[in-house]
Parts: sequence; C-alpha cells; structure tokens
Amino acid sequence: MGGLISLAKTLMIIGGGVEQIPAYEAAKKRGLIIVGTDVKKDAPALALADHVLIVSTRDAEATAESAVQFNKSHQVDGVMTIANDVPYTVALTSKKLGLHSISLEAAKCASDKLLMKQQFQKNDVPCPWFSPVENIVQLKDLTNNRDQETYVLKPVDGRGARGVLLLDDKIDLHWAFEESKRWGDSGRLILEKFIPGIQLSTESFILGDVCYTPAIAERNYSRLDEFKPYIIEDGGTIPAQLSDQQRMAIDDLILRGARSMGITDGIVKGDLVIDSAGNPLIIELAARLSGGWFASHEIPAATGVSLVDAVISYALGEKVYPEDLIPKWDCSTAIRYWFPESGRIKAISGEEILKVVPGLLQYGFFRKPGEMQPIIHMHPDRFGYVLVQGADREEAIARVEEAIACLHVEIE
Ligand SMILES: Nc1ncnc2c1ncn2[C@@H]1O[C@H](COP(=O)(O)OP(=O)(O)O)[C@@H](O)[C@H]1O
Ligand SMILES: [Mg+2]
Repeated sequence: MGGLISLAKTLMIIGGGVEQIPAYEAAKKRGLIIVGTDVKKDAPALALADHVLIVSTRDAEATAESAVQFNKSHQVDGVMTIANDVPYTVALTSKKLGLHSISLEAAKCASDKLLMKQQFQKNDVPCPWFSPVENIVQLKDLTNNRDQETYVLKPVDGRGARGVLLLDDKIDLHWAFEESKRWGDSGRLILEKFIPGIQLSTESFILGDVCYTPAIAERNYSRLDEFKPYIIEDGGTIPAQLSDQQRMAIDDLILRGARSMGITDGIVKGDLVIDSAGNPLIIELAARLSGGWFASHEIPAATGVSLVDAVISYALGEKVYPEDLIPKWDCSTAIRYWFPESGRIKAISGEEILKVVPGLLQYGFFRKPGEMQPIIHMHPDRFGYVLVQGADREEAIARVEEAIACLHVEIE
C-alpha cells in the first residue's frame, strides 16, 4: 500500500442534485474529502465529489448499507444533507457508521406529519387542529362546516407542497381526497384547520438549551387565490415583520416543538404561521437544512450566518459556537418565482436585463426552450426563481419585483 495518509476528514453528503451543490462547495472550501450519493450517476453535485455512491437518497437501508461497505476501506467522519427531506436516511446511515446525528425515532417523527403533530399535541406545542383522514366519509364528516372554516388536506409524507390542498366550501371533496392521496408515498392523509395569517419560514440551530434562529422569512402567498386549491408559495422576504417578543416566542416554540419530536440538537427548519391573536403555531418542523436557496444563499446574505457550515461541523462531531449562529449584520433578501402559462416554451427573453438588476444574488430556470411548462400544482412546477439583496425590506421587494418583470417566457 504505502502513500500519504490524508489528515482531511471525509463528509458524506446525501443527494447530488442542484440544490445540494452549496454543501459540496462549502465542504470543498473546508478541505474535506466528499462522498456524494444519488440514484442518478449524472446528478450535478456529484461532479464535485471525491467518491460517489449510486443509491437512492430515499432508500435509507440501501444508503446505510452502501456507506458501511465504503467505510470499510475509507473512514467516513460525518453524514449530512441539504434541501432533501430524507432525515431518516441521514440518521440511519450515521447510526450504522457510529456517527453524530439525531435519533432514528426523531428522524421518523420528522418524516411523518401525523406522528409529528401527535407529539406536538401531547406536549402542548401550539399547532393547527388536525386529524388523520382514512376515507371520504370521514373527510366529509370532519369538514361539514366548510362554510365557516377552511381546511388543508395533505399527505403525511409529502414535500414541496405536493398534494397540499385548500378545502373551502367550493371544493369537490372526492377529487381532493384522491388528488392528495396521489402524492404521498404511503397514501395516508392528514387534515388540518387552515390558519389564515402571516406565514413564516424559519431555520434554527439548537445548541443545548438555546434555539438560535438567525433569520426568519415572511412567505409570500399573494397568489393563493390564483392557484387554489393548490397552495403555492411565491417566494419570501427576510426579515419578516415581527416584534422582538414574537421572535422570542418563536425561538421558544421551535425549541419545544423540536424537543417533543426528540430532537435535542442540530438543524431545524420550520414552517410557522401567526394566528389572529399574534401567536405563532407550528405547521411543520423538518430535521434538515432547507432548500430553495434559503440556508445556502438567503440567510448568509441577510445575516452572515452559514447554517450549512454549522451542519457540516455538527455532522463531523465538531463544536458549533453561538457566535457562528448570531447574525453579523442585518440586511434584507427577497426571492420570487416565475409562473408562466402552461405549454411548450418557445423562447425566454430579458435575461440580459435581469443580469444587471441591482442587488441580484442569483437566479435560475428549471426548464429550457422546447420543454413543457406544466400547470402549477406544486413547487417544482414553478419556472424559475430570482433572489436579490437590499438594505431593507422595501428595497429588496422593489428590486425583486423589478427582476421578475425583466423576464418574458414565451409559450407556444
Ligand atoms: N394548517 C395550515 N394552515 C395554514 N397554512 C398551511 C397549513 N398547512 C399547510 N399550510 C401551507 O402549505 C405549505 C405546505 O404545507 P406543508 O405541511 O409544509 O407541506 P410540505 O411538506 O409540502 O412542505 C405550508 O408551508 C404552509 O404555507
Ligand atoms: Mg413544509
């Protein structure tokens, strides 16, 4: 054998998609050796990996087994993911390798909206009213006051707003039941009361008894009526308009919510809503770094905090310090999406003007000319995004609206 013994640690990153690239880049910057995993050989982030395991990120057992085999000849020091809702794959692989992660029970809870809400309820963690729904008769029964109350129906194991439907008094319940069922892996559904109010996207890191939430985005749901019954978000803006008291209540709520799920430390991504009394409720907590360029671009630009680096340190069993999680500055970012009509994309114009919009951080298109733009039913159906920075909310919002208006997507 012989040769040099490398002192660099090895990090396994679950998933090699475009939204995982920032983790590969951050790991490279730290001089780590990267093992990337994905079911697709040509997944774009894998080009940045030193070693590749071809296995589905959603198949926890197969990923863990493949990691154990790899670890026999090359020691892995940490396992993580970003923008990929596979906490169980990360936890199981870490456990099999004897590495630092949340427990398997916590990861299971984070993968099932019903289990999660039951833990919230047991522990008095405020969340919207909910019930499992097994059949259409039960759905009709539970929602028979839809003239006064709006509900949300969703798969217990969905993601990216797939099959998340708003049930008002005009909805066809039979259709909604079948449509929502189509999108989860298990076919199990959960019904919730829809809470009208400010919707928030949070990303926190729990260190001991303290929940640090460096940034909170106010999610933009101005298109709710347009896409109803599908619940489609049109980006968000950091910072959210909240009082200091509300921010403290949010940290406390996330800490309690995470604990009720068995998460004692590490990253927690939240979907929250502020109810009519001004109190935060948890819609869901995810045990992973967020996608949509929130953790990788928006939060660093707005605050100087890199949660991606905190998660890499956590995965490697290295210490994370409070000063890594406290904002170094306070500015604003805004992200918005394009929603062209459906049909074959003929041409995309205005990109040159878009490139010189003040404060532009990043933009991207999910489709090319010649491809089909689908009708918008879930987040991956959106055409593309643009992300800008501004000194404050007003500037960021004005800039992002200017950026969105630059582009024209011509449909045949
Ligand atoms: N009970 C609810 N009240 C208000 N908004 C909700 C509710 N449930 C879901 N939503 C909205 O729909 C989005 C998607 O639902 P979520 O449960 O987070 O599913 P996903 O796993 O697809 O992210 C949420 O982020 C939130 O904006
Ligand atoms: Mg969500």
